[in-house]
Amino acid sequence: MSRILQPILNLSRLVLSQAIVLGGFVIVQRMGWRLPLGIFEILLIHGVFSALIGRLLGLWWFWVPVQILLPFAVVYNEVVPAWAYGLAFIACVLVFWNGAKEQVPFYMTNRQTWNAISGLVSRENAKSCADLGSGTGGIVIYLAKAHPGVRVDGYETAPLLTLISKLLVAMNRRPNAAIRYKSLWDADLSQYDLVYCFLSPVPMPGLYEKAKAEMRKGTLLVSNSFEIPGVTPLDVLEVHDARHTKLFLYRF
Ligand SMILES: C[S@@+](CC[C@H](N)C(=O)[O-])C[C@H]1O[C@@H](n2cnc3c(N)ncnc32)[C@H](O)[C@@H]1O
Repeated sequence: MSRILQPILNLSRLVLSQAIVLGGFVIVQRMGWRLPLGIFEILLIHGVFSALIGRLLGLWWFWVPVQILLPFAVVYNEVVPAWAYGLAFIACVLVFWNGAKEQVPFYMTNRQTWNAISGLVSRENAKSCADLGSGTGGIVIYLAKAHPGVRVDGYETAPLLTLISKLLVAMNRRPNAAIRYKSLWDADLSQYDLVYCFLSPVPMPGLYEKAKAEMRKGTLLVSNSFEIPGVTPLDVLEVHDARHTKLFLYRF
């Protein structure tokens, strides 16, 4: 799916799901039925049903809170101070910092996949791992907890995500975990036995060249969902999760 088409498709799904629920309410009203509900309950039902329909139409879970809050934002728009929109915009910029330059948005690896990666760390007898583009640090903390003898580093350049993940690592008191505010392109991959990434199709060819130049013989690169074009993986691990995650394993 092209980078231009995907946002248009998502927006269409959002508008369609909101319109379907609105249409439902209009039909109920036209039929003369009076719902024994206050405005808050109606807006909540509108948001929840829109979110459910959006999911059925293929919208990612990120849109669920957006769908639920949208009817409230429309009806109570004058209650929300203008600076709140500015603040939300700044927060989005600080989270989706890499979206435009790197074409790698922020989304998270799920627990089942954390578990599968943890299995690989054991199987490989890895002593050091990296998550390239570590987001909120979920997998870094999980692996550091599951394998106290393994060093786990996360590399992240989105400022808000780096701050949050550093705080979470500090709160979890994991001396073997570290978040580095550093681009994955500047990470020294020769330090690691296993390198994990969950990025997008765009950086994969460049990442392969970097990994080939830096990763030691016998070490493993694991890419969640995105294959390296033209390179046959050693193996493809299927995770038994809702999105049928595929982990592409490349041995150097
Ligand atoms: C899809 S998210 C994956 C987050 C995390 N690894 C996980 O699996 O839950 C990709 C992350 O890569 C980060 N990113 C994109 N380009 C980067 C770069 N050049 N250096 C470091 N991180 C980068 C983004 O900010 C985002 O947090």
